[in-house]
Amino acid sequence: MDAKTQELLRRKEKVLWPSYFLYYTEPLALERGEGLYVWDVAGNKYLDFFGGILVTSVGHSHPKILERVKEQLDKIVHTSTLYLHENIIRLGEKLAEIAPGELSTSFFTNSGTEANETAVMLAKAYTERNEIIALRNSYSGRSALAMNLTGIAAWRPVGSEIPGIEHAMAPYCYRCPVKSTYPQCGLACAEDVENVIRTSTSGRIAAFIAEPIQGVGGFVVPPPDYFQAVADIVRRYGGLFIVDEVQTAFGRTGRFWFGIQHWGVEPDIITTAKGIANGFPLGATITRPDIADVLPRKGLSISTFGGNPVSSAAAIATIEVLQENDIPAHVEKMGALLREGLERMAETYPVIGDVRGMGLMQGVELVADRKTKEPSPQAAAMLLDETKARGLLIGKGGAFGNVLRIAPPLTATEEHIHEALEILDHAFAAVQDALG
Ligand SMILES: Cc1ncc(COP(=O)(O)O)c(C=O)c1O
Repeated sequence: MDAKTQELLRRKEKVLWPSYFLYYTEPLALERGEGLYVWDVAGNKYLDFFGGILVTSVGHSHPKILERVKEQLDKIVHTSTLYLHENIIRLGEKLAEIAPGELSTSFFTNSGTEANETAVMLAKAYTERNEIIALRNSYSGRSALAMNLTGIAAWRPVGSEIPGIEHAMAPYCYRCPVKSTYPQCGLACAEDVENVIRTSTSGRIAAFIAEPIQGVGGFVVPPPDYFQAVADIVRRYGGLFIVDEVQTAFGRTGRFWFGIQHWGVEPDIITTAKGIANGFPLGATITRPDIADVLPRKGLSISTFGGNPVSSAAAIATIEVLQENDIPAHVEKMGALLREGLERMAETYPVIGDVRGMGLMQGVELVADRKTKEPSPQAAAMLLDETKARGLLIGKGGAFGNVLRIAPPLTATEEHIHEALEILDHAFAAVQDALG
């Protein structure tokens, strides 16, 4: 480890909570980024295929975004929402342009957690009910409510403290909760939503919340028809369908602007954050006007920083760049290329148990044994070190920490994908060799 990284590590340990865990056996200290590449404090260059957890949608230091942000900084940094400012309105217009169906009105906050808090609060106010159905293996954020919605024990440090939240089976085909396969399973995981409503709630639910693809849970893609079946059940019981697109929005899954569109379902509320402003803090909760209208009637709600002029300027510019480059179509093509390469590796390396995902959100689940599917978090940790050593940054996740998460900026080109695949191939060869 270079001297600067060692020094930063020492200083961090003195003043930052240990809960700031770091990737890699030898942690990485970043200094700058440009496009798809980042440089560490020792001057080493890396191809960034994780984008700071799916945040840098159009690459680091994108000139158009920096220009708009600098322009805004010179005018006014903060106004609060008590005064009109064109940026937050323009951003609302942009989201209304790309959001599906009747979802045309937004409330802005500063994070995915707050976007989910806002969605659940709105659903409760609208339905005048309190109970929420979430999914196992899900991640919703780090507020008390969001941690309780989360379905991964490791991310719930204080356990359950908010009543009225029940978790249904995860639509996790590789580790099917009823040990079946699609379509013979008869969508038992979707049926479970109804079972949970009938057995564990009053039967009068406010909402169901789910990610189109479970992100932190290891890029778990629900089977076809799943969300259609679940939305029917949820609506039959009078609940709203909230879709958490914190990771999956803005073309990430290819072909569409939002992940849920692959299932042909129109949600009542969409939450998003991460990739919306290419790194500037911003969360959005998007819904139909008839649902949003309930709030001022029921009570007040404000976010001091939410939708501030600077983050909004970054978000408008980000969405413009995505639109100018027809990103959903581009991601569909690049995603197919990435997927093909990963599937080829699965034929060679037995440590790969499953390859899954959509667009530029591809997961590789690693196992100690393909038959027993015993998770191998050890292989995932080794893969991270081996890819970093060869100049590639990727992420990991999953309830067992054994899923590689590969999610480059949406502007990744064929050359970037080939470069990443070549490094991954060498890294897999090294890890498979070491594991025997
Ligand atoms: C699906 C999903 N929802 C919500 C969140 C919480 O977002 P934030 O960390 O911005 O509060 C995350 C963060 O990883 C997420 O992946």
